[in-house]
Formats: sequence, structure tokens, C-alpha cells
Amino acid sequence: MKKVGVAILGLGVVGGGTYKILTEKRDFYKKNHGVDIIVESVLELRKERALALGIDEQKIASNIAEVCSNPEVDIVVEVMGGVDPAKKYVLAALNAGKSVVTSNKELFCKYSHELEKAAKKNNCGLFFEASCVGGVPVIRSLLDNLQGNKITSLLGIINGTTNYILTKMSDGGASYEDVLKEAQSLGYAEANPTADVEGYDAAYKLSILSSLAFHTKIPFEKIYREGITAIDSLDISYGKRLGYTLKLIALGKNTENGIEVRVHPAFIKNSHPLASVNDSYNAVFITGDCVEDVMLYGRGAGALPTGSAIVGDIIYCATHDNFNYSAFKNTPNADPDTKFVSNFKSAYYIRLVARDKAGVLSKVSAVLGKNSISLSQVIQENAEEENGGVPLVLVSHETSEKHILKAVEEINAIDKFAKVQSVIRVVT
Ligand code: HSE
Repeated sequence: MKKVGVAILGLGVVGGGTYKILTEKRDFYKKNHGVDIIVESVLELRKERALALGIDEQKIASNIAEVCSNPEVDIVVEVMGGVDPAKKYVLAALNAGKSVVTSNKELFCKYSHELEKAAKKNNCGLFFEASCVGGVPVIRSLLDNLQGNKITSLLGIINGTTNYILTKMSDGGASYEDVLKEAQSLGYAEANPTADVEGYDAAYKLSILSSLAFHTKIPFEKIYREGITAIDSLDISYGKRLGYTLKLIALGKNTENGIEVRVHPAFIKNSHPLASVNDSYNAVFITGDCVEDVMLYGRGAGALPTGSAIVGDIIYCATHDNFNYSAFKNTPNADPDTKFVSNFKSAYYIRLVARDKAGVLSKVSAVLGKNSISLSQVIQENAEEENGGVPLVLVSHETSEKHILKAVEEINAIDKFAKVQSVIRVVT
């Protein structure tokens, strides 16, 4: 039986999960795929992690050179995260003729062109299913199964931490700060949550997914990014009354005017399937010209779900001799003829506090009318605010971001009591 040796770089949550799957299911894979996949080497500075998993001490490498020169190793699994030293290690492995399976979204987003070049030069496989949306098989769906389509849009909830936080804020009305603390104590959110809550993690993933979907490199810098740190639970509850759920969305659209890529909080209509993707679950809703709508749903993180994606790549790699790469020109920048849309269109939720006095509402309406903004929903409350104003919640029909920003500026200038408190995009 063909033997395939694997090295795992990093034995954190995902590395440990991958090791566990590979060892516990070794016979299952032998029976189903006719290959014996053996973990031959691990590289982990915290040796106790390897020993706790029951890994033989002689399989613990002390540096990347040892892994690369090990003739028993065919596939290197990189699950360290970050760019440095992961990039150096992955390039060393590829240049030593080892195929690479990685879960590293930041590395793949920023350097897929360099990694792919090295993989092609050395006739090695380069697999990255686990880099986006954990156990949800979205990469291979885009790379292979959906190739017959022109993908027109991709809308996802692709960060579990923020989805957990927003779900809890929505369920209990708690503040962002309180839910973040709870998420950290449960181990859902990192001690330094910036990458998740500021939308970087989702933007790395969107860069990878939209590059595959739209057949051109979508650099991270082209993605509009806004996190969830400024979200007020009051807006979540007004949204609920209007029939919306708040999510951190990742949106890629390929329109006649160009490509639009953005990560930001948005209200989603409750009738949309993504509105019921809760807690740390993720989903990607893809629209293609032949297939129409496809939704992939599941766990976007965790030892076994992400390990599932990694092991799927290992098995694929172990059972194929020729490898496919990205179906686009993998360069650092987009193709020169790719246009990007910056003044995008959306519907908008606007909450303001206005003086409860004749004429204020008509002035707000006049500003909206002047900026060609028409409304689809309005809530006006009697409740007194601290400053003597009353809350007014508006939802617009689709309009351009520029018009909204101008209208907000003009509403804020009406008088000192008309102040816009929040503006949130609405996915229609
Ligand atoms: N931190 C990520 C999330 C998981 O919360 O979804 C790995 O990408």
C-alpha cells in the first residue's frame, strides 16, 4: 500500500485536531483510499504539546530544515498562522519538493502568488481549503465544482467570533463589551480580539474567496473593512422590530460596473437564509449564472471542523499526482483591466435623535429628498431621550453611499437636536 508521510507545523488547536483525526482514522483512510497516511514529523516549540498528544519524541523536529530534509515526509501541513515564520517555512517545504496544506488565511491572502509560483516550479501541490470558513468546503466548491459558472456574488458570514458576539447581543440585549468578555472567557474570542472584531480575519478570507470566484487576484487592500466594535445593541433591537438581523458580512459582487468587495456589519432580512446562521456557525451564499443560489453552512473554526478540511486536502494530495492551481492569473495585484467599485449602493438603516417639535421631521425629509433618498420603513418613538429628543429610525431604499454620507452631514447640521446616532447598511 502507498505510504504518505505528513509533517505538521504547529500543534495548537487545529494542529492537534489534525493529528488526532489522522491517527484515529488511519485505518479508515487506508480502507477507503488505499493510502497509509502517517504523521512522520511535527514542528512545535512547546514540546509538551507534542508529548501530550502521545507523539513519539523522535518525531519532534527541532527546526524546519530537519522537516524539509526528512525523506519520509511528503506533505507539510502548516497550521501556525501569521506570516512570519510561516511563509519562510512553507516556501522551504515547497522548494524541498514537499506538497503543502495550509490553514493560514493571512499568508495565503497576502502571498498566494509567491507560494503558487514555488509550488508550480517544484511540481508540488498547494492546498488551502482550511484557510477559509473552517470545515465548510467552500474553496474546492469554487475551484472545481462551480467552474462552469460566472459567479456574480458571494455573501458570507465568515467569522465565527463576531457571529457569536452579535448573536448573543441580539438574544439578550447585552452590550458589545460584556459579550466580548464572555466570549473571551469561553475561549471563543482571542485575548487580543482585533483580527476578528475589526474584520481583518473576514477580509483575508474574502480576498481569497473573491479571487477564486471572480478569476482575478483581489488584494486585501481593495476590500472595504469595518468591524463590529461600534455596534450598539439598541440598533440590533430596532433592527429586529423592522424584520432584520445584524451580521458581520463579507460581500463580493461582480457587476457591470466592476468588482465590489466589502466586510462590514449589515442588517439582513430575516427571510434570507443567512439571517438564521447563528452563534459561531458560518455560511457562504454564492450566486452563479447557471447554478443560481448555493449556500454552504457549517462550523468555521475549531479543532475537528478545521482538521476535517485539512485532512480532506491531505487525502486529495495523497491520491493525486497532478495538481491544479488557482483558476486565475495569480499575481500580487488584480489584472490591469479589473475595475473596482468604491461608491457602492445599498439600502441603509439610519437612527437619529430629533427634537420633538413641529418642522424637524419635515427638515429631515427634505434633506433625504434633496439627496435622492427614498424611505421604505420608519419608526418614530414617543420615548424621551436624555437630551429631550425622540428616536427616529429610517430605512432607505437602495441608494449610493455618497448620498447617504452627504445626507447624514446635512441632517446633523439641521439643529443641535437632530443628530444621527448610527448608520448601518442593509442587505436587500
Ligand atoms: N477566528 C476565526 C473566527 C476562526 O472566529 O471565525 C479562524 O479563521
